[in-house]
Amino acid sequence: MNIIFLGPPGAGKGTQAQRICAAMNIPQISTGDILRRAMKEGTETGLKAKSYIDAGQLVPDEVIIDIVKERLAMEDCRGGYILDGFPRTVPQAEALDTFAKIDSVIELAVDDQVLVNRLSGRRVCVKCGATYHLSMLNGATTCAACGEELIQRNDDKAETVLNRLKVYHDQTAPLIGYYEKKGLLRKVDGDQGVDSTFEAIMKALKA
Ligand code: AP5
Ligand code: MG
Repeated sequence: MNIIFLGPPGAGKGTQAQRICAAMNIPQISTGDILRRAMKEGTETGLKAKSYIDAGQLVPDEVIIDIVKERLAMEDCRGGYILDGFPRTVPQAEALDTFAKIDSVIELAVDDQVLVNRLSGRRVCVKCGATYHLSMLNGATTCAACGEELIQRNDDKAETVLNRLKVYHDQTAPLIGYYEKKGLLRKVDGDQGVDSTFEAIMKALKA
């Protein structure tokens, strides 16, 4: 099954994609993770992406489309995948239509106020990328999965978060209508516990 996770920053796309991918044994293709890895490794793409990401803006379509096209052509995507964070603009969605057949689009809906709280409290593992929220850490500063240090993402600082939300509403939200027209959209309430959200997504995928 080829699935898209659509939703604002902090909606839980990454958290849920990890779980659903493990349950369905398919890869999670997170464009945000790919770009952050490129920045860490200092590749040409990483250098290009950095100023956009730090400002909470989208990386140009032509940069990201080629990356996804190449990634989806890999062997491990043959049995399906979850796209987490792509497409994010109508031109990206139109490009995707030329090289992939999507079966289902899950829209994770959460109010902006909840999102600001989630993002400002998010901590991620520097090594394995596992995601936590301060409220679940009870003061712990290392990753429960691999023991490495937990850090705050650069773009989770308050002013950048507000920018990312604005960019979502202006440039990505139009995709809801785009996929609704194709009959692929399933809306899931993302403002419930992580386990309940997981179950709601599984149910929507089976429907
Ligand atoms: P990306 O990394 O994709 O960031 P994003 O879309 O802004 O989304 P996030 O990763 O911030 O949120 P999420 O929905 O994954 O939430 P999470 O599960 O972590 O992109 C980063 C940047 O890269 C972009 O700004 C852009 O510059 C660039 N980029 C990426 N893709 C691009 C593209 N296609 N085109 C152009 N540019 C692109 O959860 C958030 C927090 O909430 C965590 O702390 C988590 O523990 C907590 N949480 C999760 N679920 C729940 C729940 N049910 N209840 C309570 N807390 C919860
Ligand atoms: Mg994410």
